[in-house]
Amino acid sequence: MWSTRLGQQLGRPTRSVLGWLVSKFLTRHNQLLEENAVKLCGILPGHTVLELGHGPGLGLQAAARLLTEPAGRLIGVDYSKYMHQMASEVMKDLLASGKVTLYHCDVAAMPLADGTVDRVFHCNCYYFWPDLRKAASEIHRVMKPGGLMVTTLRLDRIAYFASKRVMPGENWRPEAYMAALKDSGFTDVDMDDKQDRGITFQTIYATASK
Ligand SMILES: C[S@@+](CC[C@H](N)C(=O)[O-])C[C@H]1O[C@@H](n2cnc3c(N)ncnc32)[C@H](O)[C@@H]1O
Repeated sequence: MWSTRLGQQLGRPTRSVLGWLVSKFLTRHNQLLEENAVKLCGILPGHTVLELGHGPGLGLQAAARLLTEPAGRLIGVDYSKYMHQMASEVMKDLLASGKVTLYHCDVAAMPLADGTVDRVFHCNCYYFWPDLRKAASEIHRVMKPGGLMVTTLRLDRIAYFASKRVMPGENWRPEAYMAALKDSGFTDVDMDDKQDRGITFQTIYATASK
């Protein structure tokens, strides 16, 4: 069925015609969410910042521009080999300099030390995680005490995709993700509406209390 195939490609794009079309769709339509996630997580020039499910790399590029101090580091994880390769090409100069590190891995098992990340952001990603609690616990593990996690989404669009069964199950619901965040030790878990360029989107915030 077309919706299942589309969902599979959105959740983990592969090097294929549909995967290529999905990468073009992400690049064209998700810039606003990626840029706002970067802006709203309050990155300082010396921070260590992590993007989950970076896809083609728009958010990575926006975050890298803010990490102007030598200590500033950017990490990205994505378990799609195709997206990992695409973002690696886009970020190749910063990868070579050691400013940026990209891991081809699952959000639920990241090769990062405990308590090392100041800011985490992600867009259009958690809906595809089979175990929200496991992923949220792993994000919490790698974050520094008091670190901020931000995700941006367009709820109307996601609800439409879910109604067409593009998203698997019910994990796309913000309430499900926010409950998993609270269960994993995050505090000040909250969601609000924002507008940019005439488009309304939602932002979920969570603080890694330890
Ligand atoms: C719909 S795309 C969004 C990409 C980008 N953030 C954007 O908004 O354009 C979802 C991305 O998250 C990645 N992803 C989904 N689940 C993941 C997981 N459990 N671990 C790592 N990456 C994951 C997919 O491979 C894909 O690149």
